[in-house]
Amino acid sequence: MSRQRFLTGITPSGTPHLGNYVGAILPAITSSQDSSQDSFFFLADYHALIKCQDPATVRQSSKEIAATWLALGLDTEKALFYRQSDIPEIPELTWILSCNAAKGLMNRAHAYKAAVQANEEAGDDPDFGITMGLFSYPVLMAADILMFNASHIPVGRDQIQHVEMARDIAQRFNHNFVDVFTLPEAVVDDNVAVLQGLDGRKMSKSYNNTIPLFQGEKQLRKSINKIKTNLLEPGEPKDPNDSTVFQLWSAFASDDQIASMRREFENGIAWGEAKKRLFELVNAELAGSRERYQQLMDDPGYVEDVLKKGAQRAREYSVPLMEKVRAGVGIGVLS
Ligand code: TRP
Repeated sequence: MSRQRFLTGITPSGTPHLGNYVGAILPAITSSQDSSQDSFFFLADYHALIKCQDPATVRQSSKEIAATWLALGLDTEKALFYRQSDIPEIPELTWILSCNAAKGLMNRAHAYKAAVQANEEAGDDPDFGITMGLFSYPVLMAADILMFNASHIPVGRDQIQHVEMARDIAQRFNHNFVDVFTLPEAVVDDNVAVLQGLDGRKMSKSYNNTIPLFQGEKQLRKSINKIKTNLLEPGEPKDPNDSTVFQLWSAFASDDQIASMRREFENGIAWGEAKKRLFELVNAELAGSRERYQQLMDDPGYVEDVLKKGAQRAREYSVPLMEKVRAGVGIGVLS
């Protein structure tokens, strides 16, 4: 049996927050420490252009995300860590796959369908504001995955469909041209917590309710103080299962700490006190990596170097694969 190869992309369109940390970054770094499997992680900067037309944000977010993964201890000797746009074979493969992917398949993509539906509900033209980038984004994602013969793709639920499309596209290509692509499978981890944001909904940039991962200590305290609670007074019993403070606590605490906080809630801990303890817990976990993060943010040359080395290694896979693909479809030198 061949080695399992895990691959996942991170779109640089915002600042990493606690939800990204608990739900994606930490599980990915932990799984990359298992030397029986290969890990490929990349900044999906071409994907960022689909949602974000602000160059400064894309640049800043790319730097923040790269620094975040390094600060949290990603071992880039073991895992491949690179930037999508440093791999010219990816957009090249995207075009070739585009010429084979069925338009009907893309019509069914959730993100595209949701955009059309929103237009229809607003009484606009169905294609209003929809770019070709949004429409064909599953093909770019297929190229990201197929380029490296990845077998396992850790993603959130919203991305399962895209991995299935990549599989579909690979199958079709293997059948019609040359059998070069591994058929990928989505991996969804039901054990990782989906964190709640300041307002109690899922923590997400689009809800503007996030707690940034590496803001300064004072800022972190302030953010935690903003978490929405009910009006129960100190001494009144509180329902832990209905509390964002408790949910965040549970994502960072040990089992014993979770059990004892549960009792504190039942005994009527004051919201101010619960938030103070939450701050201390989260801050203790993040303080060390926050300092490394600051150092990396101040040394973009170093981060750039790591990414360039990653790209060099990644291209040892993408260049030969692309040669096979080109030959397979009839592109290349005359003989
Ligand atoms: N589209 C993914 C997201 O929004 C990010 C991504 C891009 C990705 N290319 C990928 C994830 C390839 C897994 C594999 O979350």
